[in-house]
Amino acid sequence: MKLLGKYPSTRMRRIRNSDWIRRLVAENNLSVNDLILPIFLTEGSNKKESIKTMPGFYRYSIDRIEGIINQAQKLKIPMVALFPKVLKNKKDNMGNEALNEKNLICRALKRIKKNSKNIGIMCDVALDPYTSHGHDGVLINGEIHNDKTIEILVQQALLQAEMGADIIAPSDMMDGRIGKIRKALDTNQYTNTKIISYAVKYASNFYGPFRDAIGSKSNLKGDKKTYQMDYKNANESLREVALDIKEGADMVMIKPGLPYLDIIRMVKDTFRIPILSYQVSGEYALIQNGIKNKIIDKKAIIESLISLKRAGSAGIVTYFAIEVAKNLRKFN
Ligand code: PBG
Repeated sequence: MKLLGKYPSTRMRRIRNSDWIRRLVAENNLSVNDLILPIFLTEGSNKKESIKTMPGFYRYSIDRIEGIINQAQKLKIPMVALFPKVLKNKKDNMGNEALNEKNLICRALKRIKKNSKNIGIMCDVALDPYTSHGHDGVLINGEIHNDKTIEILVQQALLQAEMGADIIAPSDMMDGRIGKIRKALDTNQYTNTKIISYAVKYASNFYGPFRDAIGSKSNLKGDKKTYQMDYKNANESLREVALDIKEGADMVMIKPGLPYLDIIRMVKDTFRIPILSYQVSGEYALIQNGIKNKIIDKKAIIESLISLKRAGSAGIVTYFAIEVAKNLRKFN
C-alpha cells in the first residue's frame, strides 16, 4: 500500500480522539444478529445445573428450555445450537442413542418447534455425546471407521430434520459426510434444511469444558487427532472447505475461534460462502475466569467477538450470547 500522507499534515490520532468519531469510522461492529447461543440439555425436570468448568453457564432440563428460547427470541438472537448430556447407561460403542427418536435432542426439538417460530435451531451431527468411548464416530478395531460412521450420521441428520432442526451441523470431521447427508435430506424432501459444515475443526485443547458439560470427558479414550485437524496446518483448511462446498454445505464453521483468526481470514479471502466461527468452551472459561478474578475487564468479551468478526466471521457461536445481547449498548 502506498503511504497516503505524512506527519505533521497527517495525524492519525485525529480520527481517534473522541468517542463519536471512533464510532463513526469503525470498520466492524457487533450486533445481536451475529450471535448463536449454545444450549446444553440434561434429563430430568426443573433442572438448571451449573457446570464446574464453565462458571456462569448452565445445563437445562427440557421443561425449562422454553424460558431460554423465549429470552433468546426476545433479545433477537437469530439461532440456538443444542447439545445433549446423555445418561451414561444410554451410551454404547456405536452411539445407538443418537438414532432414538425419543432422545433428548429429539424431544427438545419437538418442544421448541411447537412453540417458538422465529428462531433457528441448529443441531450437531456427531456421535460423541452418545458413544461409550466419547469419540465422534464408531470405533472398530481401534480405529474410528469413516464410512460406517457416515451411515449412522446420515440417519442422525435425517432424524433431526424430521424433528424440526433448521440447520444440520456435522461436527464429526469424517470425510465425505456432507455429500451423503445432503443427498439423503434431498431424497427425503428436506430440501430447505440447511447444512453448516464444521469444515475446519482442529484437534484442540480448548474443548475441555464442553466435554465436561456433556459428560464425554471421562469416557474419552485417547484423542481425536485421527479425524480433527492438526493445529500446525493452515492450507489444509482450504482443502476441507473446498470439498464441503462441493458436497453441498451452505455455510462453514471454523473452530476454535480466537487462536484461529488467520484461518478465518484465509478462508474468507478464498471462498464466497458465509463463515461462522465458534468461540469454544475453553475460550469462554479463560475469559470468564479472567473477569471473575478481576484480571481483565468485561469488555474483553466484546473485543474477542469483534476480533472474530474482523477476521471474517458472519456469525459466532458463543457462550456469552445472552449476556452480550443484553448489554450490547453498554459494551460497545
Ligand atoms: C463434538 C463437539 C465438540 C464441541 C462441539 N461439538 C467437542 C469435541 O470435538 O470434542 C466443542 C465445543 C466447545 O468446546 O465449546 N462433536
